[in-house]
Amino acid sequence: MDPRSALDGVLTEAPTTIGSASTLEELDRVESDLLGKGSTIGDVRRSMGSLDAGERPAVGATLKKVTEAVQDLLAGRRTELQIEDEARRLGDARIDVTLESHVFPRGSLHLIQQTIDEVVDIFVGLGYRVADGPEADLSWYNFDALNTPPTHPSRLESDTFYLDYGDPDDDVLLRTQTSPVQIRWMENNQPPVYVVVPGKVYRNETTDATHLPVFHQVEGLAVDESIRFSDLKGTVAHFSREFFGPTTQVRLRPHFFPFTEPSAELDVSCFACDGGVPGCRVCGGAGWLEMLGCGMVDPNVLEAVGYDPSKLSGFAFGMGVERMAMVRHGINDIRHFVDNDLRFLRQF
Ligand code: DAH
Repeated sequence: MDPRSALDGVLTEAPTTIGSASTLEELDRVESDLLGKGSTIGDVRRSMGSLDAGERPAVGATLKKVTEAVQDLLAGRRTELQIEDEARRLGDARIDVTLESHVFPRGSLHLIQQTIDEVVDIFVGLGYRVADGPEADLSWYNFDALNTPPTHPSRLESDTFYLDYGDPDDDVLLRTQTSPVQIRWMENNQPPVYVVVPGKVYRNETTDATHLPVFHQVEGLAVDESIRFSDLKGTVAHFSREFFGPTTQVRLRPHFFPFTEPSAELDVSCFACDGGVPGCRVCGGAGWLEMLGCGMVDPNVLEAVGYDPSKLSGFAFGMGVERMAMVRHGINDIRHFVDNDLRFLRQF
């Protein structure tokens, strides 16, 4: 066949052949059928050398025109197929926003943290500030500055965790109470002092239903001119009524703490039986619940921080957070707080 009519035939059919390629792979095949070895265009290109010199320019021009037209058609179809392909892939990846999503549980504050927040809030409402201090502290802050003599039994290793940094003069321990923060606050701040100190404390204790080696306390300290025992009583009574309810009665029993004189323990009337129902599940029939330790700041403590005990006086108190939460919620085993059993934790 005359090469020019063969090429014209290719040009006539090319739009249909190319248009019918429905995937990019098919189009690649069509491309090699139209332009590659064994194709009409390929054969004509190869036969150019053997053509008559007179025929060559016209055949060459047709070859060029047809080749370019085929290439344009291929490029146009390739673009169409790429767009379709892209649309299909996006379609596959489309998200159904109406499907139920995976819900991550948000969790909530631990009962101990909730209790701390509540206690601290009550004192913040009275104008107290919130302080904190190190959990590993010097013996001096935990004991000496708090008027605790070197012979006091709580200093024994059977009661206190000491930290060994290799230097025997370095008396570092895990604080057994939040009281050392009283000293640290007074060292760094001038009176008047009204602070509460929530925090972790550590004792070398065997774990049982009422003891953990790590627990929490909230400490309180007020130092000002002419603070009296009645201020202490009024403050802890107000706190007790806020925490346990407005009808709560309080009583102070004489006690001993090295850093206060006089010292007392505060009892609150049992909120479950309101005073002595035999066998009450909260107070066991006693009618009273032991709540916190307190007292008037010993002048030696004020002197240890350079405060003048002839001009200043104060009161302090300290309470165990686990105990407060246990009494309030009727929790009978302190270990529930650290077991991380969701059935327990979710109740609060
Ligand atoms: N630090 C005492 C304890 O851990 C509690 C305490 C009692 C703190 C009397 C005080 C206080 O500030 O005045 O048992």
